[in-house]
Amino acid sequence: MFNTESIPISIAPMMGCTDRYYRFFMRFITKYTLLYTEMIHTNAILKGDYKKILDFSNEEKPLALQLGGNNPNDLSECSKIAYNEFNYDEINLNIGCPSDRVQNGNFGACLMDHPDLVSECVYKIKSVVNLPVTIKCRIGIDNKNSYEYLYNFVKKTSQAGCKKFIIHARVAILKGLSPKENRTIPPLKYDYVYQIKKDFPNLKIHINGGIKKIDEIKNHLNYVDGVMIGREAYENPYLFSNIDKYFFDKNSIIKNRKEILEDIKKYLEYLYNNNIPIKYLLLHILGLFNGKEGSKIWRKYLSENMHNKNCNPSIIDNIIKLIPNEILELREKLWKEKKV
Ligand SMILES: Cc1cc2nc3c(=O)[nH]c(=O)nc-3n(C[C@H](O)[C@H](O)[C@H](O)COP(=O)(O)O)c2cc1C
Repeated sequence: MFNTESIPISIAPMMGCTDRYYRFFMRFITKYTLLYTEMIHTNAILKGDYKKILDFSNEEKPLALQLGGNNPNDLSECSKIAYNEFNYDEINLNIGCPSDRVQNGNFGACLMDHPDLVSECVYKIKSVVNLPVTIKCRIGIDNKNSYEYLYNFVKKTSQAGCKKFIIHARVAILKGLSPKENRTIPPLKYDYVYQIKKDFPNLKIHINGGIKKIDEIKNHLNYVDGVMIGREAYENPYLFSNIDKYFFDKNSIIKNRKEILEDIKKYLEYLYNNNIPIKYLLLHILGLFNGKEGSKIWRKYLSENMHNKNCNPSIIDNIIKLIPNEILELREKLWKEKKV
C-alpha cells in the first residue's frame, strides 16, 4: 500500500484518456507519480460488470479510484468493493465535473453547493475503507466564487475526515459553458488554493489547472503539497520522463523515447497475444513526440494504421524508421539548472 497523501505529483482523472492502457503506458515513463482512474459512476459499478470496470494491473500503482455519485450508501458500497476486492491506494470523489449529464445526475461540481451531503459521503466511505478519502473540486461554481465559499466547503468536508483536496483553480460555470470551455474560460486563481493551504496547514492541498512545465510545478510546490497535471500529461507524456528524477529519486534515469518505445512494443505484444486490440494502447501514445521533429509523421502513421485489421506490434518498428535518430535517442532534460 502506498501513502498517497505524501505523493506530490499526480496525473489527473480524465474520461476517455486515463484508462488502464494509458496508465500502463505512463508507468514506462514515471514509476512514482500517482495515477487516477477515469471517473466511474457508482451505478456503473453497482449495476454493471464491476470486475471488469475496476480491474487494473499491479504495475499501475500507486493508483487512486475516482468515483462519481451523490448517494452516500452507494459510494460507500463501491468503495468497499474497491477496497476489499481490488488494491486501490486512494478513493477520490469527483466534485468538479460541470457537464450537463453530470449536473442532471446531481453530482460532480454542483455538489460544492451541498457540503453537508459531501461530508456524509466522505464519512460513510471512510467508515468502510482504510485508505485516504480525498476530494477533487473547483474553487467555486457560477457566481459563488468568493474565497469564503471555498473555505467553507473545505472546512466542512475536512471535518468529516477528508485530509487531502485537489483543487482545480477555476470556478465551474454550470450553465452556458461546455466542459471543454470550463477548462479554459474561467480564469485560474491559484492564489485561492495557496490561501487554503495557509488556512488549513494540516490538510494536504494539491493544485490543478493549466500546469505544463517542470519549473511551474516546482514553483507551485513552494505553496502547496502537490500538483496534479491533466491535459499536458496526455498530450505530452514525455514531460513525465523528468518527473521521477526531479521530484522523487535523483538517481532515476531519464529515458529517451527509443527506450520507451521498446517497452511499448513489449506491451503491445502482450496485448496482441491475448487478443486485446492494440489500438486501445496506440490511441494513447499519439503525443509521445509532441513538439519534436517527426511528431506529425508519428501521429499520421499511427492514426492511419491503428484501425487496420492487420495492425500488429511491428507498427512500432515501421514508424521508428521515419523518425530522426537524434530525436529517438534524445535524453531530454526539461528543467532549467539553478544558477549558482
Ligand atoms: C478529456 C478530459 C476528461 C476529463 N475527465 C475528468 C474526470 O473524469 N474526472 C475529473 O475529476 N476531471 C476530469 N477532467 C478534468 C481534469 O482532471 C483536470 O481537472 C482539468 O483538465 C484541468 O487540469 P489541466 O489544466 O492540467 O488539464 C477531464 C479533463 C479532460 C481534458
